[in-house]
Amino acid sequence: MAVSWYAVAFLAASALGASIAPSNYVLEKSACGRVWVTIHSPAIRISVGRNLLDAIELNWDFSTCSNTPMQIGLFNGRPLSWNNALTTFPVNSAVGFVITNISLGDGNLPGGWQSSSGLKGPHCLWPWVGAGNSFIQSFNCLKIQPTWMEDNASQINKLRIGDLAIPGTHNAGAWRFDTEVSTVERDSFVLCQDRSIWAQLVYGIRYFDFRIAYYDFYSREEDRYWLNHNLIRVRPLVPLLREIRAFLDSTREVIFLDAHHFPVGFYHQNGAPIQHVHRGLINMIQRELGPHIASAIQFATNPGTRGPTLQALLNANRRLLFSYVDNSIVAGNRWLWPILPHLWANTNSPTELFRFLDTMIDRSPLPTARSPLFSAMAQTTPTVLDILLVRGSLRENADAVNRNVTARLKTRWRNNANIVSTDFFLGSDVTDVSIALSVERSNRL
Ligand SMILES: *[C@@H]1O[C@H](CO)[C@@H](O)[C@H](O)[C@H]1NC(C)=O
Ligand SMILES: *[C@@H]1O[C@H](CO)[C@@H](O)[C@H](O)[C@H]1NC(C)=O
Ligand SMILES: *[C@@H]1O[C@H](CO)[C@@H](O)[C@H](O)[C@H]1NC(C)=O
Repeated sequence: MAVSWYAVAFLAASALGASIAPSNYVLEKSACGRVWVTIHSPAIRISVGRNLLDAIELNWDFSTCSNTPMQIGLFNGRPLSWNNALTTFPVNSAVGFVITNISLGDGNLPGGWQSSSGLKGPHCLWPWVGAGNSFIQSFNCLKIQPTWMEDNASQINKLRIGDLAIPGTHNAGAWRFDTEVSTVERDSFVLCQDRSIWAQLVYGIRYFDFRIAYYDFYSREEDRYWLNHNLIRVRPLVPLLREIRAFLDSTREVIFLDAHHFPVGFYHQNGAPIQHVHRGLINMIQRELGPHIASAIQFATNPGTRGPTLQALLNANRRLLFSYVDNSIVAGNRWLWPILPHLWANTNSPTELFRFLDTMIDRSPLPTARSPLFSAMAQTTPTVLDILLVRGSLRENADAVNRNVTARLKTRWRNNANIVSTDFFLGSDVTDVSIALSVERSNRL
C-alpha cells in the first residue's frame, strides 16, 4: 500500500518535472500546535528473544492550542480518515508522545534518494501521523530533507553560517562496524548512529563530527585512515568521503565536516603532531573533496563574527567547510577552518546536560572564537563504570534526551543555537525544527 502510493507520487512528480513536484504535496499541516514522527532508538523487547527495532513514535505539542485534540494515530499514507489508521491512541496531555509497536521496517529512502540523488524537496517515508477529533486536523510524515538549503534558498541564503540552525550528528561515522563481529557489550557503547553518512545527508544532516584514527599496519596508505569512537575503529574513511562527494556533486547543499579528535596514530608520545600522518589526511581530503572545498583564507571573517553568508559560498560554488581541531596544522594549511568549539557537558545526567547547554548556548560564540560555528553536543556521556557494568547503552541514553532536545531547540535555544549534534538523530525532530528556525531567523534580518 505505502509502496504503491510512493510509486504513484514518484511517477507523477517525474512526469511533471522535479521543480514543481514538492509544492504539489502538503506534507505537514496544523491549525495550531504540531505533530511529528520519530524513531525510537532502543530496541523494544516484545517477548523472550524477540526485539522490535526502529519502533515508530508519534509526538505532539498542542500547548499553544485552546483545545487539545482527543486522538492521535499512525497511518501508512496521508491521513484522510480515522478508518485508515493503523493504530490510534487517546491524547491525554497537551504535550506528549507514544511509542507504537510498529517498526519503520527497511526504511528505504523515498524520492529516488536510496543510493543516489533523486527529486528535489522533502519526501515522505511511509509513516504519517494524524491528530484530531472526528476529523483529522493536524498531520505530518517522517520525511527526508535532501535539498532543504536549496528549497529555502530565497530566505536562508542571506544568513551567515553562524546564524543558521544546523542539524548535526555526534560521532557521525560510528554507525555500523566494518570490522570484526559485533558484540552487545561493545556496540552498546560505541555506535552513536544507525544510518549511513549518505542517509544522514539525505535526511538533512549537514554537520558531521568525525573522530579520525590512523593505523600504519595497513599496506595501502588510504586504508590506514578510519573513523573511530575513541580507541575503537568503526569504518574506513575514504568510502565515507566518497558518499559526501557524491552528495555535493549532485546538490547545491553546504556541508560542514569537523575533524574533531584524533584518538589513535596522529600524535607522538610527547604530544607533537606526526606531520606525515596529518599531511596524508589533508592530501586525501583535497583529493576526494577538492573542487568543493571552501577555503577559510578566502571566506572566513574576523574572530567573534558569524562567517560568510550561504550566498557567498554558493556564488563561488564552494560548499564544503572542513574544520580541524589542531591549530598548528591549521596554521600551515590556511584553507582549513579553525577549531570548532564543542559545547560538551561530559556528564551522564540529562539534567546536568541541559543545565550546561542552556548556559553555554546563550554565551556562544565567544568574542574570541576563531570559528563562526559552534556545536551543542546534545548527548550524555557514559562513565567508565557505566561501560564496565554494561549499564544502559548509547541508544537508551539518546532516548532519554532526544525529545527534550527537540523541545529545547524550539524554546530556550531558539534564537542562539547554531549546530545541534545528536546521537540516533531520528529520535529527535532537530532537522525539521532547524529548517524552520533558519527560515524564521532569516525573516528577521
Ligand atoms: C506493545 O506490545 C506489548 C506486548 O504485546 C503491549 O504490552 C503494549 O501495550 C503494546 N504497546 C502499544 C503502545 O501498543
Ligand atoms: C524532559 O522533558 C520532560 C517532559 O517535558 C520533563 O518532564 C523532563 O523533566 C525533561 N528532562 C530534562 C532532563 O530536562
Ligand atoms: C522550505 O522550503 C520548502 C520547499 O519550498 C517549503 O515547503 C517549506 O515550507 C520551507 N520551510 C519553511 C520552514 O518555510
